[in-house]
Amino acid sequence: MGLYTALARPLVFRLPAEASHGLAENVLRVSPAWALAGAILRSNHPGLKVEIAGMNLPNPVGMAAGFDKNCRVIGSLLSLGFGFAVGGTVTLHPRPGNARPRMFRDQRRRALVNALGFPGSGLARAQARLAKLPTSQSRRAWVSVSGSEEQDILECHRTLEPLVSAVEVNISSPNTAGLRVFQEPGRLRSLIKSITERKKRPLFVKMPRFDGAGADRKLLELGTVAIEAGAEGLVVANTLPVEDPRLAVGRGGLSGEPLFDSTLRFVESLRSGLPAHATLIACGGVTTARDVRRLMSAGAAGVQLYTAFVYEGVGLPGKICRQLSR
Ligand SMILES: Cc1cc2nc3c(=O)[nH]c(=O)nc-3n(C[C@H](O)[C@H](O)[C@H](O)COP(=O)(O)O)c2cc1C
Repeated sequence: MGLYTALARPLVFRLPAEASHGLAENVLRVSPAWALAGAILRSNHPGLKVEIAGMNLPNPVGMAAGFDKNCRVIGSLLSLGFGFAVGGTVTLHPRPGNARPRMFRDQRRRALVNALGFPGSGLARAQARLAKLPTSQSRRAWVSVSGSEEQDILECHRTLEPLVSAVEVNISSPNTAGLRVFQEPGRLRSLIKSITERKKRPLFVKMPRFDGAGADRKLLELGTVAIEAGAEGLVVANTLPVEDPRLAVGRGGLSGEPLFDSTLRFVESLRSGLPAHATLIACGGVTTARDVRRLMSAGAAGVQLYTAFVYEGVGLPGKICRQLSR
């Protein structure tokens, strides 16, 4: 058991989930401290270097979108040993998100359920923060963008793409109905084609986590649309839609360990169904080096995680990478 899990986590977990996230974000904003701590915590093993859609990254383990919604702590996350980190999801205008309470832990299952609904400070603030990243960090920074109108997403993409190394378009929030309109194949094709006409950097589509009968088929159909329209890859996948009466809005997205099996299954079925040039990033329930190995053996070029970082703390990316390098 590490220092975080033994000492800090029991205290942090006394706070409501959203409050402890705010605390973590504030602590991570002290970036010089994490640059120093990261020198001890991270692993720089040369054998972990990967190329993902043309980007050279020090390892295949990324921080998923949603942890750093306002692009405040990307530098600290990279210092801690993530190979890349996704800021956002950024929307054109600031958004308050859904009514509270809107986030809970399920410690027994090492999971979270959230219905945040994209609270965020909007495009202009994200642009100002990403513009300050040094080149060494912007080369490993990705940003997630979304919106309910094609024009809004195009504006976010146009503004932020020059400041990062890749863009993710999020069409998959289970908590914000208006932001799911691009799950309709015709609208997704039109959106990705419009972005592709002018994009200069890799584009990923963050896919919904379909559930129940036909989930694999639906995912492959929608993923095929995204790749044929010009996206370099897919991030598979977002949270699982669930009902939870503790949430003010009654429904939300489940994340964490319970998602791993479906993540692996989706990667396997997409890898056999999509063309070889489509890059797959696995996301959902990734916790250990073994998880990373299994997903990469199934055809993922890299992985992203969020919930395991909440449960395991700042040493997690370094720990996974040290185990991967053995
Ligand atoms: C509190 C919370 C907020 C999230 N916000 C976003 C978001 O803004 N954009 C997005 O694409 N995914 C968001 N996600 C989904 C994660 O990026 C990820 O797809 C999901 O949590 C599964 O990975 P995990 O099991 O490693 O957490 C969020 C997840 C959580 C737990």
